[in-house]
Amino acid sequence: MQGISTFKIANKLITGNGATAKLKEEAEALGMKNPLIVTDKILNEIGVVGKLAKYLGGSSFGIYSGVKPEPEAAIVEECTEVFLSGNHDGLIALGGGSAIDIAKAVSGYARFDGRIEELFGTGMVPQKGAPLIAIPTTAGTGSEVTNIAILSDTEAQLKKGIVSDFLLPDTAIVAPEMTVTMPKSVTAASGIDALVHAIEAYISVNASPITDALALGAMKMIAKFLPKAYANPGHMEARENMATASLMAGMAFGNAGVGAVHALAYPLGGRYHIPHGVSNALLLPYVMEWNKIACLEKFRDIADALGQNTSGMSNPEAAAAAVEAMRSLCETVHIPKGLRSFSIPESDIPSMAEDASRITRLLKNNPRVLSLDDIEKIYQTAY
Ligand SMILES: NC(=O)c1ccc[n+]([C@@H]2O[C@H](COP(=O)([O-])OP(=O)(O)OC[C@H]3O[C@@H](n4cnc5c(N)ncnc54)[C@H](O)[C@@H]3O)[C@@H](O)[C@H]2O)c1
Ligand SMILES: [Fe+2]
Repeated sequence: MQGISTFKIANKLITGNGATAKLKEEAEALGMKNPLIVTDKILNEIGVVGKLAKYLGGSSFGIYSGVKPEPEAAIVEECTEVFLSGNHDGLIALGGGSAIDIAKAVSGYARFDGRIEELFGTGMVPQKGAPLIAIPTTAGTGSEVTNIAILSDTEAQLKKGIVSDFLLPDTAIVAPEMTVTMPKSVTAASGIDALVHAIEAYISVNASPITDALALGAMKMIAKFLPKAYANPGHMEARENMATASLMAGMAFGNAGVGAVHALAYPLGGRYHIPHGVSNALLLPYVMEWNKIACLEKFRDIADALGQNTSGMSNPEAAAAAVEAMRSLCETVHIPKGLRSFSIPESDIPSMAEDASRITRLLKNNPRVLSLDDIEKIYQTAY
């Protein structure tokens, strides 16, 4: 029987090649007279910011380009100072998940009278902040449609989330042309992140028919188009499909949640600063090998969506084919394998497992229960 479920995303989605041309109109509709573009140094230097600024016409705006990959809370504080001192009245996030998450956190923090750390957790943001338009340049995190901002807590060496519906962007402009300059490694890592979002949402205990349709659709598109986007950065059909798939996977996991792959990946990001998509990919086949007996039928669907021919296979065979297809897709886009290849000391595994076991916000969505011991074993197999 289907339980009650809520579905929430950004208020408005604008998609398609050239969609950024709508920026001025959308900013005005949200009452922005002097927005702050939140982005990073690389996107500024390679001209992506300039390309976007052109679409703001003669309007007044500011640029904050201090976002770093896997950003820490201090960046939110710095960006908030720029936002407040420049009398900005709106935020335009331009970048990958890192820039979008910073802008989301700034929208929550700018009107909060406390320390940023007090916002970590669920439902701690007291009110809606400045209007926010999110324009992803990776494909991707799906952050343009989710209610979470993920920050690195440098002290705890963990990635932590600010989760609040007040962080849902007002408008997401998903324009594939913004993603063509992505380096190959970012195309691969962010594409695998989107795949993991779709797979984890599909097998989540909170999945609904709505999130299932989005998740399966995204898996099919990623399996077909990620290798093409990786092989040929200018392949616009592939970029279009990846941008849309990432958005769909974001809508799926923003509502059904992600599970153990993300929970086990967080300590890798928090301690060793491994890019988010890569940490997920390092664990994906091993966590899925563990999960599959909990939902064999769903794994058969995943195998089909990833292009495997499962006719004549038993459910366990089809589930094994699904895991193999995930492994093979990661290999095709040259994601490095093995925790050891990142010089992670094997002796860190027990404490990493302890950190991961505390991420109950995600582990509770996972279809198979994991004990501390199980988590340690999975890290060991992934080593
Ligand atoms: N809020 C959410 O719902 C959510 C979901 C998943 C991941 N995340 C978070 O998002 C972050 C990762 O985001 P990401 O994978 O999008 O990468 P990113 O934003 O960290 O960007 C990675 C690198 O790619 C560069 N880059 C991005 N787009 C580019 C482009 N078009 N051309 C050239 N260079 C480009 C950036 O400058 C940066 O150096 C992590 O902190 C992760 O935890 C958030
Ligand atoms: Fe993710």
